[in-house]
Amino acid sequence: MQIRYLGHAAFSLTDGDTEVLVDPFLTGNPKAAVGADEPRPDAILLTHGHADHYGDVVDIAKRTGATVVAITEVAGELSGKLGEDHPVLNPNLGGTAELPWGSVRLVPAWHTSTTPDGTVSTPAGLVIELGGKRIYHVGDTALFSDLALPGKRGKIDVALVPIGGHFTMDRFDAVVAAELIGADQIIPCHYGTFPPIETDAQAFKADVEQAGYAQVVVLAPGESHTP
Ligand code: NI
Ligand code: MN
Repeated sequence: MQIRYLGHAAFSLTDGDTEVLVDPFLTGNPKAAVGADEPRPDAILLTHGHADHYGDVVDIAKRTGATVVAITEVAGELSGKLGEDHPVLNPNLGGTAELPWGSVRLVPAWHTSTTPDGTVSTPAGLVIELGGKRIYHVGDTALFSDLALPGKRGKIDVALVPIGGHFTMDRFDAVVAAELIGADQIIPCHYGTFPPIETDAQAFKADVEQAGYAQVVVLAPGESHTP
C-alpha cells in the first residue's frame, strides 16, 4: 500500500484499486497537492469536524459516492447533507467501522471539535487497517499518555502525527508522542499550512531518530511513501 500526503492533515491511502481519503481539506488549503475534483476515493474518513479536516468531504462524497466514516455526531450531520441513501458509518470512540477493504477504529484525541455548520462533537484518532498495514492518524491532539494504547493492541506500522503546535502538539511534544506511539515510521503533518503552525520538520526527524523512537519520513505535499 502507499501513503500520499496531500497537505495539512490530508492523506490518500491506496492499495491496488482502493483509495481511502483522510481529512480532505483541499479547497482553501494553500498547501493542497490536488484539487477537490481529483480524488476518486472508495471511502472518506474524518478525524473531527474542524474545517481544516472536514474540508471538501460533502462535495467529494457526492461526486464519487464514497462511504463516509466519522464520529456519531459529525456522521449525523453528514447524513443529513448527503441524504439517507448515501453510505455513512457513525462509530463512536472505541468503535470499528468494517469496510470491504479493511477497517477503521476511532480512538481518543485531546482536542476540540465543531463542524463548519456548528455541530459540537468529539475529536478522534483513526487506526486504519489497509493492505496489511496498520496506520494510526492521531488526528489533532495534544500530547497525552493514551497515545500509547493503540500500539498495545497491534503494532503500528506508520503514525501520521501533527507537529505544528498552536492547534496541536508541537514538534517537541511530538517527539515524546513518537516514543509513546511506538510506530516503525512517522510521517509529520499539520504544519507549515499557515503562519501559526510553521515548524522545522527536519529538526523533528533528527530528534526522533537520534532518540531511536522511529524512522521519520518527511513528505512534501504530493509526495508518497510506501511503508
Ligand atoms: Ni482541529
Ligand atoms: Mn486541524
